[in-house]
Amino acid sequence: MITAEAVGWKVGGAQILDDVSLAVAPGELLGIIGPNGAGKSSFVDVLSGVVRPTSGRIRIRDADVTRLSSTRRARMGLARSFQTSALFDGLSAGENVRLAVQAAGPAAFSPFRRVGSAALEVVDTLLSRVRMPGRAATLARDLSHGDRRKLELAMALASDPAVLLLDEPMAGVSAEDVDGLGEIIGEVRDSGVAVAMVEHHMHVVLGLADRVAVLHHGQLLAVGAPTDVVADERVQQAYVGEAL
Ligand SMILES: Nc1ncnc2c1ncn2[C@@H]1O[C@H](COP(=O)(O)OP(=O)(O)OP(=O)(O)O)[C@@H](O)[C@H]1O
Ligand SMILES: [Mg+2]
Repeated sequence: MITAEAVGWKVGGAQILDDVSLAVAPGELLGIIGPNGAGKSSFVDVLSGVVRPTSGRIRIRDADVTRLSSTRRARMGLARSFQTSALFDGLSAGENVRLAVQAAGPAAFSPFRRVGSAALEVVDTLLSRVRMPGRAATLARDLSHGDRRKLELAMALASDPAVLLLDEPMAGVSAEDVDGLGEIIGEVRDSGVAVAMVEHHMHVVLGLADRVAVLHHGQLLAVGAPTDVVADERVQQAYVGEAL
């Protein structure tokens, strides 16, 4: 569904990403791990069109989107979340989701392009999908950290994406909420979405991901089944001093 072909990104003389080739299929969850500064967020930025790679190609389905903006890629079915929160704190959960639905625009998005009461139904559907039914009226700033992350997920789903890129969707979330978020993300994958998830919570990545990719110094160190990747000596070396 989305493919990176020999992607490189060089900025100010530093090679942030170097010859990374990875693909995510519909209904597949690719976990992306790696030490701090490995280039994980940069890779998500390159896939989503926030930055343009200096070498290589990005495809969505068969289309070469390397030179297309993030907006164009969004209209082709790509959605993402950011490592840091992107909520409007002064708005309710429902209003945040409604803005995301509107921002998804008129292109495809057939199920969600609604007005009036139908639009409210869409908001409810999205909030239910992240297991926050009945929370539409709660101000974003009054939500727990876990619920904020779920809300961000609902917003990313507002465009009914075919590809979902998540950059540390569980960052700062309590242990109970981590598992709940994992289940929701697993359901999104099971619905046929191609999901790529950067995440530090290793037990979630290993339990949830169909395949795991390890980035290290901007390079793809290993990719494969979670158990194989964890057993890989080079991966363990890369994590010396960090919990795997
Ligand atoms: N716009 C930029 N200009 C220059 N250097 C950058 C830029 N963006 C990222 N970097 C550098 O690229 C490297 C990779 O950063 P990136 O944020 O992609 O890592 P990461 O794997 O997501 O790390 P973390 O686990 O801390 O989130 C870092 O050394 C960072 O300082
Ligand atoms: Mg990062």
